Amino acid sequence: MTAALEPVLKRIDEDFDNSVARLCELLRIKSIGTDPAYDEETRRAAQWCADQFKEMGFDSAVRNTPGQPMVVAHYTPPDATDRTPRVMYYGHYDVQPPDPLELWDSDPFEPTIVEAEHGKRIVARGANDDKGQFMTFVSAFRAWTDVHGSLPVKIIVFLEGEEESASPSLEPFLEANQEELAADICIVSDSEAWSIETPAITYMLRGMVFIDVTLKGPAMDLHSGMYGGGVVNPNNALARILGELHDENGLIQIPGMYDDVRELSEAEAKAWENLGFDDAGFLGGIGLKESTGEKGRTLLQRLWSRPTCDVNGMWGGYIGQGAKTVIPAEAHAKISCRLVPDQDPEKIYNGLVKFLKDRTPPDCTWEIECHGKNPAIRVPTESPYLEAALKGLRATFDNPPVLIGCGGSIPVVGSFQRILGFDSLLAGFGLEDDRIHSPNEKFELKCYHNGIRSQAAMMHSLAELAQ
Ligand code: BES
Ligand code: MN
Ligand code: MN
Repeated sequence: MTAALEPVLKRIDEDFDNSVARLCELLRIKSIGTDPAYDEETRRAAQWCADQFKEMGFDSAVRNTPGQPMVVAHYTPPDATDRTPRVMYYGHYDVQPPDPLELWDSDPFEPTIVEAEHGKRIVARGANDDKGQFMTFVSAFRAWTDVHGSLPVKIIVFLEGEEESASPSLEPFLEANQEELAADICIVSDSEAWSIETPAITYMLRGMVFIDVTLKGPAMDLHSGMYGGGVVNPNNALARILGELHDENGLIQIPGMYDDVRELSEAEAKAWENLGFDDAGFLGGIGLKESTGEKGRTLLQRLWSRPTCDVNGMWGGYIGQGAKTVIPAEAHAKISCRLVPDQDPEKIYNGLVKFLKDRTPPDCTWEIECHGKNPAIRVPTESPYLEAALKGLRATFDNPPVLIGCGGSIPVVGSFQRILGFDSLLAGFGLEDDRIHSPNEKFELKCYHNGIRSQAAMMHSLAELAQ
């Protein structure tokens, strides 16, 4: 069977420049899914993706939802049997807004090739998250069909355009199309490698509860001399309340926050220790020297296995140039909690609302809007599918793959488990310094190239499961 893989890897190497060109074409489409001003561009990205699969002989279409469209593409090999694995491939073609624009060294939607320590890299919004990542399997399919004229497994490609906005249309779509979307396993390329030489499968993802809050006080903005000191200032009050979210040991004060948090098993703590995480390198890369947070935990434990509460934004009153002495009528904040296994998002949401309401200043009221609630996720660390993926990664990297956790959230993995009943293999090829969601997002061409080779090798090992 290895005989089938070798020529595909060769084809991937020969055709790599074209794979880069195709990714650049997609990166030029401004699919900022969260901003309605870009709806047309977002749809254009969906159509571009659907066309890629059509060209390769998939039954492929852009599917409407109340929000951004999905792309669903089906492929059945001509020689498929009941034993041929049904593999779903997931990605998201929406990207984060590029703001703040002035901090980019080049146009976020004009992919720019830059030479750096690991060779060439592509700088653009979405270069990693998630266009570069999912184009690894698209390019692997292309090379495989170029060489063999068909693909070795049954495939459903499922791409969404609302991942960065908490996927409001996702679950209804999965529920309405359960039969069509039946699969054995899903490959998700939206996570990180351990390093440029060491691939990883992510087996734990944190969940999330995120809200917008407004604290309303006086009926209008006021002169801070005429009224200051005598009436409530929502900015002052909100800052004080948010300051109470953590105690001096870094513990979150939301009622019930730690009730269901499981302690890390000794075996897991040991395995993470053995990864040899470079704390100083991680911190140095973002201009810091010291890690903060819960006392008595390692940095990796805090990032992967402990809950968080962060203020993502806060504003109110006058934020323009120069001075204006004013007491604002209202103050605003965006707050998110990352959740770990066994925490119930509903319970944490209620706890967060109670935390705020218990501290309501006199004459004030809250407006609270929830963006989403999803639980943390674990995927099995033992299964024939995982073994196949590891085998594929071993075939394409010199260093053996490692199993890792992840501080971020990919809620779709939980939705697939719950609604469609299959697990996911989180095999991503990005690096921690790729600046996803930040200015100058990048993807190393080496990561892209190894990612495409790995996708082909993993598909090959999955196909072998049929024998
Ligand atoms: N690809 C990321 C998730 C991720 C981040 C994986 C870091 C590995 C390392 C994904 O696109 C993302 O940004 N998720 C959001 C989810 C949210 C909007 C529901 C997140 O984690 O903030
Ligand atoms: Mn992503
Ligand atoms: Mn993202």
